[in-house]
Amino acid sequence: MDYFRIQGGRRLAGRVAVEGSKNSALPLIAASLLTSETVTLRNVPALSDISNMLRLLKELGVDVQGEHGTVRLASADENQIHARYDIVRTMRASICVLGPMLARRKKAIVAMPGGCAFGSRPVDLHLRGMQALGAKIELQGGDIVVSAPRLKGNTIFLGGPFGSTVLGTANVMSAATLAEGRTTIECAACEPEIVDLANLLNAMGAKIRGAGSPRIVIDGVDELGGADHVVIPDRIVAGTYAVAAAITNGDVVLEDFPYDCLLAAIDRFNEIGVHVERLDESEDPMRCTVRVTSERRLRPTTITTQPHPGFPTDLQAQFMTLLCLAEGNSIITEKIYPERFMHVAELGRMGAKIYRQGPTVMVIGGTPLRGAPVMASDLRASASMVLAGLAADRETIVSRIYHLDRGYSRMEETLNLLGAKIERFRPEPAEEKRLAEALAGAGEG
Ligand code: EPU
Repeated sequence: MDYFRIQGGRRLAGRVAVEGSKNSALPLIAASLLTSETVTLRNVPALSDISNMLRLLKELGVDVQGEHGTVRLASADENQIHARYDIVRTMRASICVLGPMLARRKKAIVAMPGGCAFGSRPVDLHLRGMQALGAKIELQGGDIVVSAPRLKGNTIFLGGPFGSTVLGTANVMSAATLAEGRTTIECAACEPEIVDLANLLNAMGAKIRGAGSPRIVIDGVDELGGADHVVIPDRIVAGTYAVAAAITNGDVVLEDFPYDCLLAAIDRFNEIGVHVERLDESEDPMRCTVRVTSERRLRPTTITTQPHPGFPTDLQAQFMTLLCLAEGNSIITEKIYPERFMHVAELGRMGAKIYRQGPTVMVIGGTPLRGAPVMASDLRASASMVLAGLAADRETIVSRIYHLDRGYSRMEETLNLLGAKIERFRPEPAEEKRLAEALAGAGEG
């Protein structure tokens, strides 16, 4: 198992580019199941979640060329319809093969995804959508079995107790491209990843209007063809590196910064005293060059996570770490995943003072972070541990880095380019035991 050893207290400076979006690339890869022609995706990030998704597609009879950068996908054997639990349990996003497979292959069997580190994460809205399109749904031995000779367009309300659903919208929108007649999705997710998917599907011959708004209208077509598509930059990676610049009082230029879809985060940065300055007059507001600097004294703020265009839940942990350094108390409320606070206890091990009540935490700012051995518990919580390590004095050891590798390609190399000192290492068994004991001992104290 890999660990990070971080020497904190170094100011970051320099220039790096933001990689392609994981959460866009995953449903885009799944969309290749909608056609037998080749779908070429560019700017695909090198991540373990992407490798797992490509492994799943291969199992589903897709010929896959390339692993990152440019990936070519051609559905060859359309008789393969079973997404097995082995893969689905490693990555909940596997659920996004459900809609494309059902629409094109008339039947799909997808293992029911389990819970995850931050809650139960049901898929009822995905299934409600498929059912509204006329699919028969059964649960057999832990597998979701959906079938329909031809899906039929319908009006579908996709809102749930926590608002819209991103992958649920992706699934229903993808499936509806091949349905008979018109589908209207109400309370659709407005996330930029949905717009990216609609752009690919339209390039494949689909007829989708309104993606990026809460109402998406899809006129079904008989067949889709191949396409060549560039994945949008990753807004969460961009936001994380902006926090890295701010938390070290650095001066960092980020290229391919998707400014247009980070307005809620930029608004909070402004409040806190972090400047995100556009350096170009780029035609494409999704690929800007920005310079991130921060004032010496950071101000506290309030943050509430919301569906896009609100503040993204996937940046909550990173901003919480930044607010540990602010001069005053901040309030953060998590409205998407009320249990997504695994990082709170770990930040506490580094000296942060954070008090939680239900879905809300109060961050008592101004207490210096101290290096410590900490454990990554999920992808974004891991990122917040690394950020804390950058700001802390002395040495921070972060274990379970495999969580981080799911969503950031070689994060340590990017941060080291900017002047951080992060070493990835795999300890000898005796050293690993000692580290595990340090973590367990501290947990009991
Ligand atoms: N929900 C339901 N029923 C459903 C689906 C969702 O109640 O059928 C609830 C969820 O439990 C949650 C809320 O609705 O409370 C929103 O979940 P959503 O379906 O939007 O999440 P997702 O599509 O499964 C994607 C991202 C997540 C990101 C969320 C919210 C991918 C692969 N994952 O998940 O990304 O947090 O949207 O923006 O796109 C991450 O990258 O770290 C990550 C977890």
